[in-house]
Amino acid sequence: MKKIVALLLAALLLTVCCFGGCAKKEAGKPTLTVAISPDFAPMEFVDTSKSGQDQYVGFDVTLAKYIAQEMGRELVIKPMSFDACQAAVQTGTVDMSISGFSYTAERAENYNLSDYYYAGDNETEQSIITIKENEGKWTKAEDFAGKTVGAQTASLQMNLCNEQLPDTVTIKEFSDIGTAVEALRNGNIDALAVANGNGKAIIANNDGLAFTGFDFEVDESAENNVIMLKKGADELTKQVNEILAKAYAAGLYGQWYTEAETLAGIDTAAEIGYDDQGNVAG
Ligand code: ARG
Repeated sequence: MKKIVALLLAALLLTVCCFGGCAKKEAGKPTLTVAISPDFAPMEFVDTSKSGQDQYVGFDVTLAKYIAQEMGRELVIKPMSFDACQAAVQTGTVDMSISGFSYTAERAENYNLSDYYYAGDNETEQSIITIKENEGKWTKAEDFAGKTVGAQTASLQMNLCNEQLPDTVTIKEFSDIGTAVEALRNGNIDALAVANGNGKAIIANNDGLAFTGFDFEVDESAENNVIMLKKGADELTKQVNEILAKAYAAGLYGQWYTEAETLAGIDTAAEIGYDDQGNVAG
């Protein structure tokens, strides 16, 4: 009897040690905490069929996974609003934010910004969307006179509204793009300023919305995206830049973007265009 108890105890001890050991090893792996604002398909958004960390998908999430893997760290995504992402980087509560950031001179002053990464055609154009009834109606800045236009807080789109729309426009801030889309659908705002690729995703997922026909004038420095890190985090920034160069050299960006578009419900096939034989046209 004593022998059996001893054996059982030994077995138990072994199991506990093994699991404990394994868990410790997992927990011991350094983490990479990345803030994202998952309201910006196809760059970062939520797959509602999944839960936990798996629910965050999109181009930037793929990029974050790649960076974590290259660094030998365990990725921890911290979802938060777009303005909160920036505050979290500034205060250092996260290692970085990968959230579709455009380069702006002001951001470059306050943060370490990575080299550019190619973000598909998400931001080659900056546009304004509206309800279907107003499709194609407003093509010049003056056409928005007296209208209410929404934009995300602390975004490039907010800057563009302030700089390029007439003074008679009421600009409404939204910390969350999903909430802004609801406001548009409910008639609380007339239009919403968006990155063109994001606009495509919003329209694809919301019946009754369309492009106004207006595009902002955008400096080409804003076309590609950058990762935002804490000012002075030079070593980490250097590491990130090396990994971005590697992803670029491996030709991964285009494929990641197409995958993200498909996941976001954007019909890439229609955009590419196929001939009768099903081959890519042109
Ligand atoms: N590219 C724009 C900017 O830098 C919009 C980014 C919005 N990103 C987001 N995850 N909501 O301001």
